[in-house]
Amino acid sequence: MPNLPWILVEDYKSPGGWVRPEQHNARARAYCELLESGQILFFRELPLQLPPDDRTFLLAQEWSELRLHKNVSYRPSEDLLRGVSGDGRTIGRLHSILRNYSSQVVEFLAKFLQPYAGRWVLDFASFRPIEEDGRDLPLHKRNDLLHVDAFPSRPTRGGRILRVFTNLNPSKPRVWHTTENFASLARKYAEAAGLRQIAEDDSFIGRTVQNLGSKLGFRGMGRTRYDMFMLRFHDYLKENSDFQANCPKVRLEFPPLSTWIVFTDSVAHAVMSGQYAIEQTLLIPPQALVAPQSAPYRILEGIAGQALVS
Ligand SMILES: [Fe+2]
Repeated sequence: MPNLPWILVEDYKSPGGWVRPEQHNARARAYCELLESGQILFFRELPLQLPPDDRTFLLAQEWSELRLHKNVSYRPSEDLLRGVSGDGRTIGRLHSILRNYSSQVVEFLAKFLQPYAGRWVLDFASFRPIEEDGRDLPLHKRNDLLHVDAFPSRPTRGGRILRVFTNLNPSKPRVWHTTENFASLARKYAEAAGLRQIAEDDSFIGRTVQNLGSKLGFRGMGRTRYDMFMLRFHDYLKENSDFQANCPKVRLEFPPLSTWIVFTDSVAHAVMSGQYAIEQTLLIPPQALVAPQSAPYRILEGIAGQALVS
C-alpha cells in the first residue's frame, strides 16, 4: 500500500513575531522539500483571505454544464476570464473574485514557500462549480481516473506543476483517490507508456513540434522529450483500465473550507466527488527546486538513461 501522503500544516502563521527569519526560511524550505517528494500539505482552515461574501456569491449562482466549459479559468498574466458565459454583472463579479483569489494565493505562497517566491510562472486559476461525481466527460478529460497532470499548451521543460486547492463547499468534502508515488508508477509503467520511444527517436520531437506548430502556433514549440512523455503518461494512465481498477488506492476527503497544496505532476490523483473548488496553479522551474532529485524529469531520466530536458 502507498504511504499516506497527507501532512497537516498548523504552524504557517508566525506566532507573535518571535520566529527569526532564518527559522522561517528553514521551515519554508522543509515544506518545499515535502511537497517535492510527493506529500500533500493540508490546511484545516483557509490560510488566505477569501471574503465570505465572495464565497456566498460563488455558491449562489446557477452554474450548469451549458454555461461552462470544463472549468471557469482565470489567466492572471493577461487578467483574462475564460470558460463561462452569462450576464455581464455575474461575469464581472466572478472575474474580480478570481483576480483577488489569485493575488491572495501568491501573497501567501511568497511567505509559506519562500524558496519559490518570485521564481515561479504564475499559471491559471480555476473555479470548479460542477459536481464531479457522475460527470460525463471524454476519457482523457475525465477527472475520476487516476492521472498525473501535464498541460498540452504549457510545456514545463522539467519544471513542476504546483496547485493550491480550496474546497468551497459548505457541507460536503471533496474526495480524491491517490495511489503509489511517481517513482513507483514510473518504474512500473513508463516503458509501456512509450518512454524509450520518446527518449530515443530523434525525429520524434521534430515531427511532433511540426504537427503541433501548425495547431498551436508558438505554444507547442517549447516541448522537451520530458513534456512529450508526461502528456503521453497522462493519457496512458487514464486509458489503462487494469491499472485504474486494480492499483492500490488511498481515499482522501478534503472537508469544507480546507485547503491543500500538491505537485500534481507527481502525485497521481482522481477526483471522485465534490462541488465548488477554487484552485491556482504555479509552474516551478527546475532551478528553483530544493529537491531536484525528486522531480519527475530526473526520475524518468534515471529510467531512460539519458537527458529528457534540453
Ligand atoms: Fe489532474
